[in-house]
Amino acid sequence: MPATAAPSIQNEILRLKKERNAVILAHNYQTRDIQEIADFVGDSLGLAYKAKETNADVIAFCGVHFMAETAKIVNPTKTVILPDANAGCSLEQSCPGPQLEAFLKANADKNYYVIAYINCSGHVKALSDCICTSGNAVKIVNAAPQDRPILFVPDQNLGAWVMEQTGRQMELWKGSCYVHVEFTRDSIAAIQEQYPDATVVAHPECTYAVRMLADEVCSTEKMVHYCRDHPSNTFIIVTESGMLHRLEREVPNKRFIPGPTGHCACADCRYMKMNTLQKLHDALLNLAPQVTMPEDLRSRAEKPLLRMLELSR
Ligand code: 13P
Ligand code: SF4
Repeated sequence: MPATAAPSIQNEILRLKKERNAVILAHNYQTRDIQEIADFVGDSLGLAYKAKETNADVIAFCGVHFMAETAKIVNPTKTVILPDANAGCSLEQSCPGPQLEAFLKANADKNYYVIAYINCSGHVKALSDCICTSGNAVKIVNAAPQDRPILFVPDQNLGAWVMEQTGRQMELWKGSCYVHVEFTRDSIAAIQEQYPDATVVAHPECTYAVRMLADEVCSTEKMVHYCRDHPSNTFIIVTESGMLHRLEREVPNKRFIPGPTGHCACADCRYMKMNTLQKLHDALLNLAPQVTMPEDLRSRAEKPLLRMLELSR
């Protein structure tokens, strides 16, 4: 048992997990002690595949609400629990379903092909033609029909990056991640001055100015492969702080810079950090809080999600 966590609560979680026939899925932004105990740690795309494929009765989802909801949408017979029901996402909040619905109604003549970043509600997914994650967004946009205009929701920064990569024009919803837009060009440049040989890896939710400084822009899962395969020994990781745990565990021979005090390149997502070992324990014990949704909404949201899973195989 690693020394970084409280062994007794970890053991109790493992006992409950067995008793419940549960699987613990955790996002790369979870705390180290949760990552250590998870059956699978990954990005939104990898987690969606794992949720769909699992034979467990219970999915204990350590991430934010839209991720657990996605698990329920693609595998509805399972009991899906998440440690803290209030673990939301600023991107999800920036595109309320009723607002998108009204926009699409008012612009029905445009016949938009709606691509929704997975960081959105079930309602928004149900209004979309296809879902994407940061790991497959380029592929999904390249596969979109050529004869329809694309509306990309809710992340304007990911959307802008995908436009740069594909050359495809899209209309962008003006949402953003409150964590990633906090990184500035100057703060990254200051870290680069201290570590001139470091390679900069940034998430596509970052702004254009930050992306311009990065040697690589990619999803959290791709960060692991990129850092492992790249000849550099030092990396500045411009994303949520939990990512460092995953990188340090899986690429132990390299150095990852979270950013020195005063020039922080790595920040906490307050939603991701709402989950704790204690709350995971209690969720497994009580089978609550559970993710539920009306079947009609679920089945409408499932179609664009399955299209995404099919297209990104
Ligand atoms: P990934 O799919 O790259 O893990 O990103 C999810 C997310 O919420 C980034 O803020
Ligand atoms: Fe949402 Fe940003 Fe947190 Fe990711 S880091 S879950 S996009 S608020």
